[in-house]
Amino acid sequence: MDWGMKNRLSRLIQPDGRCFFLPIDHGYFQGPTSCLEKPGETIAPLLPYCDALFVTRGVLRAAVDPSITTPIILRVSGGTSVIGADLANESITTSMEEILRLNVAAVGVSIFVGTDYERESLMNLADMVNLCEDYGIPVMAVTAVGKELEKRDARYLALASRIAAELGARVVKTYWCEDFDRVTCGCPVPVVMAGGPKCETELEVMEFVHDGIRKGAIGLNLGRNVWQHPHPVAMMRSLRAIIHEDFTPREAHGLYRELVSGGKKAAGTKARKK
Ligand code: 5RP
Repeated sequence: MDWGMKNRLSRLIQPDGRCFFLPIDHGYFQGPTSCLEKPGETIAPLLPYCDALFVTRGVLRAAVDPSITTPIILRVSGGTSVIGADLANESITTSMEEILRLNVAAVGVSIFVGTDYERESLMNLADMVNLCEDYGIPVMAVTAVGKELEKRDARYLALASRIAAELGARVVKTYWCEDFDRVTCGCPVPVVMAGGPKCETELEVMEFVHDGIRKGAIGLNLGRNVWQHPHPVAMMRSLRAIIHEDFTPREAHGLYRELVSGGKKAAGTKARKK
């Protein structure tokens, strides 16, 4: 692996081998998503706690201060909307020159395995890998399910994640599911988990995040369960403690409650077990 690729990956994946990416790319097909109407305001208090920001070029230019040191993962697939005919019918939206101009640490491309646009989306990924590998830029594949949330089981996600890795993705972002080890065991590159629609309780989020890490995920790319929560900073810091400090869900929930009640200023300090 060349120096540039190694350097970018090491900015994204922390020395402990874990990561917490903050995605705010939802507007690229959903428009002004709830709590993301003003993305700059949503991310300002969360930036200190994320290892990278996943964003489109439009929001990056319009709402993110270029002097930040947080690495950027640029979403480069799109071209569809929630009210259009088919969310899977994506193309690559961003040129290589633009990717370089924006000085990003990685790019993200969605794939829609099992849809009418399976081949097109897989070729979007393969074409991006061909381009980006020349410049030492990692490609993160996003195993998208569009509106078919029921697709998110181990069999489907393991298939989609493995295909993404085979086509050259350096990191695969997929959903957590029951038997998540089937997904991570079949995927030869690091796997990060998305959150999906907001869960009912904080503990529910903490439990699935903990389970996914225990079963081989290296971290999170989790958005709505943080920034649609009434206490986004407390959520982010508590989930971060699971990722980077090996907190159990109960410990993370305790930290969350302390942060919400104003009793804890600093993040958890427990030493990592491994
Ligand atoms: C949207 C995405 C998001 O990055 C991904 O779904 C993670 O966000 P959330 O935790 O809200 O699901 O790819 O297209």
